[in-house]
Amino acid sequence: MDNLYPPDEGIYRQTLGHYPTGVAVVTARKADGTPTGMTVGSFTSVSLDPPLIAFLPAKTSKSWAALRECGDTFGINVLAADQEVVCRRIASSGDEKFKDVAWHESPLGLPILDGCVAYMECTVSEVRDAGDHDLVLGEVVRMGVQRPTESLLFFRGGYGSFRPRSLAVGSPQLFDQLRFVDVARPIIERLASDTGHEVTALVLHDGDLITTAAANDGSHMSRLRVGRQTPFLPPVGAVHAAYSSDTVRSYWLSQLPKDAEQEAQRAERMLDTIRERGYGYTVGHRVGAAIETMGLRRARDSSSEALREFRETIRRASDSYNIEFLSPQREHEFHAATAPVFHPRHGLVFTLTLWGPPGQISYESMMGKIEQLVHTARVCSDALSYVDSES
Ligand SMILES: Cc1cc2nc3c(=O)[nH]c(=O)nc-3n(C[C@H](O)[C@H](O)[C@H](O)COP(=O)(O)O)c2cc1C
Repeated sequence: MDNLYPPDEGIYRQTLGHYPTGVAVVTARKADGTPTGMTVGSFTSVSLDPPLIAFLPAKTSKSWAALRECGDTFGINVLAADQEVVCRRIASSGDEKFKDVAWHESPLGLPILDGCVAYMECTVSEVRDAGDHDLVLGEVVRMGVQRPTESLLFFRGGYGSFRPRSLAVGSPQLFDQLRFVDVARPIIERLASDTGHEVTALVLHDGDLITTAAANDGSHMSRLRVGRQTPFLPPVGAVHAAYSSDTVRSYWLSQLPKDAEQEAQRAERMLDTIRERGYGYTVGHRVGAAIETMGLRRARDSSSEALREFRETIRRASDSYNIEFLSPQREHEFHAATAPVFHPRHGLVFTLTLWGPPGQISYESMMGKIEQLVHTARVCSDALSYVDSES
């Protein structure tokens, strides 16, 4: 039976406390130049054209009365997850709201709180009566994200933040490939939660492998991995090369220097091994971590020197990739395994990588995880067979 009651104050607060809100601080400058503000959970977007936002202050609020006295312009500061102290301080009554709160001026001279996620300069467009609150509609004059990090959330009386189960990188050039990854995301999330390991999707675009989505069970690695670009150069991207067209495969091999014949032969053998097995894998955390570190560096440093070092680190990793024989009797540093996902008309559209745990695990355990990965990649391919690329 449904537990439904008429809305007295307690049940109203309790029920609505189950709806999570972000936390924003409305700011303005008093006539004497000092800042004033109010913490609100009722901030919301309203209209795109014209660009309107709203918040709902209590009619009895002294903070709201002080903001009104400042005139027709106000700022909206979207608080970051690490700004709970700022939130509480500005929610306090009295004159100490801005004690120890750092801020700087917006073009209109409004206070922008240092460290907030996003900021909007607004003019009051309308104040409407809304029961014991006012509904303030503001027109946005300028806006922007100043710190793209997790926002502060308020939920059932407590503060926290939201970490998506999976993240996807959005870039217009990747639109077609991302449509396929998006269809598979719930399946990828399932694998991440079943195994407790991070799972990422890699697409090949313009000579780079790009991590387009990551799912995990709550660790924070995905934020580092999504969006990362790695040169498509042996041994990295071997699963892509193994299942792509001859042109793609030749491109991959041509990335090696002309005189690196042995390396090229080894890379070709690697492709056969992958096609026989149906997946690729890497053992050795140190080598894997070196490539990741280089990837992070490249995100900050686009110099040709950084790229050259990145490419050399990749080439040095070839001993760890797709080793032909792994002893079933021993434990191994299982770094990652990768399996292909296909579309019936486009062939390989992306690969899925499962990242192994730190330390060593038994051969059986490693193979068990790889089996789950390969199965998931097949389920993704099945799901894609219903996706038409033109629609
Ligand atoms: C997370 C959070 C969200 C809040 N949201 C609102 C809101 O939407 N509207 C409102 O009137 N007060 C809200 N408040 C309360 C005000 O921030 C502030 O505490 C209250 O106005 C203090 O009373 P005073 O303005 O009379 O000094 C919120 C407080 C917190 C901590």
